[in-house]
Amino acid sequence: MTGSFETASAESTRRAGKSLARFLRPGDVVALAGDLGAGKTQLVGGVATGLGVDEPVTSPTFNLLLVHPGALPLYHFDLYRLEREAELEDLAFYETLEGDGVSVIEWGDRFPRALPADHLLVTIRRRGPEDRVFELLPSGSRSAELAREWMGALAAQGNAP
Ligand SMILES: Nc1ncnc2c1ncn2[C@@H]1O[C@H](COP(=O)(O)OP(=O)(O)O)[C@@H](O)[C@H]1O
Ligand SMILES: [Mg+2]
Repeated sequence: MTGSFETASAESTRRAGKSLARFLRPGDVVALAGDLGAGKTQLVGGVATGLGVDEPVTSPTFNLLLVHPGALPLYHFDLYRLEREAELEDLAFYETLEGDGVSVIEWGDRFPRALPADHLLVTIRRRGPEDRVFELLPSGSRSAELAREWMGALAAQGNAP
């Protein structure tokens, strides 16, 4: 783990997501782990706002993938209902990750072998009704840079995002 931060409200989690968006580049992959209700979709909502997406972000649980046009396209995956890794091909998962947008994958830890070598894993843990801890685990040089920039911005905000 290279960093962690905490939030005490959904709004604060969305602000953290918005802050991450500033540093995202085409091809970046962020995998989100954490139980139902942890706040994965809230974080993605903040990322979407930061990318200038002007439609609401909901969990793509039934669609598995929703594409939101923004400053960069946001590829929002939710693998909760995916049963087999092979189904990722039907979703165009691998092609999409290599596309010109940024991919954020809820339940991204379910099929770890399917993730690209360099991705940022964010694990969200519930500490109380509104308290959440976010742990960042980069797996390559690009995701390490992303994690550093994001943590730097949150620290500058006194995160408390
Ligand atoms: N600190 C927090 N961060 C994110 N969500 C929070 C927080 N505190 C309370 N919540 C609530 O928890 C729920 C998180 O839902 P959601 O983001 O859909 O979770 P997930 O996608 O991980 O299943 C929302 O109802 C949100 O309002
Ligand atoms: Mg969700």
